Amino acid sequence: MMDAILVVDDEKNYTAVLSAVLEEEGFDTRMANSGHEALEILAREEIDLVISDMKMPGMDGLALLEKIKQKTPEMPVIIMTAHGTVNKAVEAMQKGAYTFILKPFDNERLVMYARKAIEHHRLVMDNQRLQHEVETQYSFDNIIGKSMPMQDVFRTIRKVGPTSATVLIEGESGTGKELVAKSIHFNSPRREKPIVTVNCAALAETLLESELFGHEKGAFTGAVARKKGRFELADSGTIFLDEIGELSPILQVKLLRVLQEKTIERVGGVLSIPVDIRIIAATNRSLKQEVEAGRFREDLFYRLNVVKIQLPPLKQRPEDIRLLVDHFLHKYSAERPAGQAIPQVAPEVERLFTDYHWPGNVRELENMIERIMVFCPGPTVTIDDLTPEFRDQVHNTLHIEGIPADAKLSETLTLVEKKMIVRAMKMAGNVQTKAAEILGIGKSGLNQKLKKFDLN
Ligand SMILES: Nc1ncnc2c1ncn2[C@@H]1O[C@H](COP(=O)(O)OP(=O)(O)OP(=O)(O)O)[C@@H](O)[C@H]1O
Ligand SMILES: [Mg+2]
Repeated sequence: MMDAILVVDDEKNYTAVLSAVLEEEGFDTRMANSGHEALEILAREEIDLVISDMKMPGMDGLALLEKIKQKTPEMPVIIMTAHGTVNKAVEAMQKGAYTFILKPFDNERLVMYARKAIEHHRLVMDNQRLQHEVETQYSFDNIIGKSMPMQDVFRTIRKVGPTSATVLIEGESGTGKELVAKSIHFNSPRREKPIVTVNCAALAETLLESELFGHEKGAFTGAVARKKGRFELADSGTIFLDEIGELSPILQVKLLRVLQEKTIERVGGVLSIPVDIRIIAATNRSLKQEVEAGRFREDLFYRLNVVKIQLPPLKQRPEDIRLLVDHFLHKYSAERPAGQAIPQVAPEVERLFTDYHWPGNVRELENMIERIMVFCPGPTVTIDDLTPEFRDQVHNTLHIEGIPADAKLSETLTLVEKKMIVRAMKMAGNVQTKAAEILGIGKSGLNQKLKKFDLN
């Protein structure tokens, strides 16, 4: 597309000449013979550069410049001045003009200025766009979210990724703790080394101990050979301690020692083996509360809670739901027969999704979309494609006894008000003072309402 230049001068002939020169050089031009006309054109057309005369009746070049800069600060403006108005040209520069050009000038010079100004403008815009994209990135690795808390999470991952700092991730089940842990690892210098996951809730204490620290041959019955523990396997990589809140008191002590001394001891062994490990722990409890309840060691908590990432429940970030739905629709459409289009979600289904409380968070949403993609044959996901259980659940949370879903607030309140007044009057045997007392309002207030509803 050609770059469009708006030429502003009160002398019609002059704008026509300049315009012809610029068009000759491959620019698209618009002409305005006053500041007001210029502003009108700017309001409705895409303009890349304004070249304006300084001296014009009514709104002069300086005033026009100010108006333009208020609306579109990045718009480049070149001011043409005659000798008498040079001091004004300086002022124009201070107010944000790209440059000024002294009349009379040769056309080549103007064309050169125009090219430079447009080029400069383009760079500024590109920069702004890039900046904007960085700031509002809706996904990081495969983590989706545009809500403020998720944007915070992305920022934190970017910051702590390159370090070896211990990270504690808290969040309800299915909020993406494991996803975040992996993202931290893969954004760290350890990415080529393993990330080893240990589920602290899955194993009995003694088993977990040998799982974590390994054991020497003969350390206990069944220990027929020396075995390396997960900490050793994760050496120079990352260990992800999932469900850390479930760790038994004894293992809490042992983990604390690893964190303090950066060495491990195999079960039944005497050697202290140095390890270089990044620790990421996750829990669906509040570890601080576990400490307060005396179930988790405070010293270990502080060692783990160096950097904290709190993943909010999905219900608290409704603006992410739409994005996540799209993400999973794409993800699971890859598994469908080729040529089948990705379904669209009907608006009423989207509304149900935002109303639902999602106790299973993102995992529950993902499972639901996966199921829909298996069973939904059509191009649109409608309410019929949802399970009856889901529809009932949403219905129950939205249902208010005696009030239809599309009721208007003021009408409904008036209706209820009227019904209550009639009832109170009946109960009070039509004695207004008594009825007012029952309703908890003043007598004159009741009187007004009786008149309003025509109940006398
Ligand atoms: N923000 C997100 N963007 C995309 N996918 C997500 C997001 N959050 C979670 N998921 C997906 O949801 C599922 C559950 O996530 P994950 O296993 O990380 O949750 P969790 O917090 O570890 O849950 P739990 O406490 O039950 O172990 C995974 O399939 C994950 O990929
Ligand atoms: Mg998990």
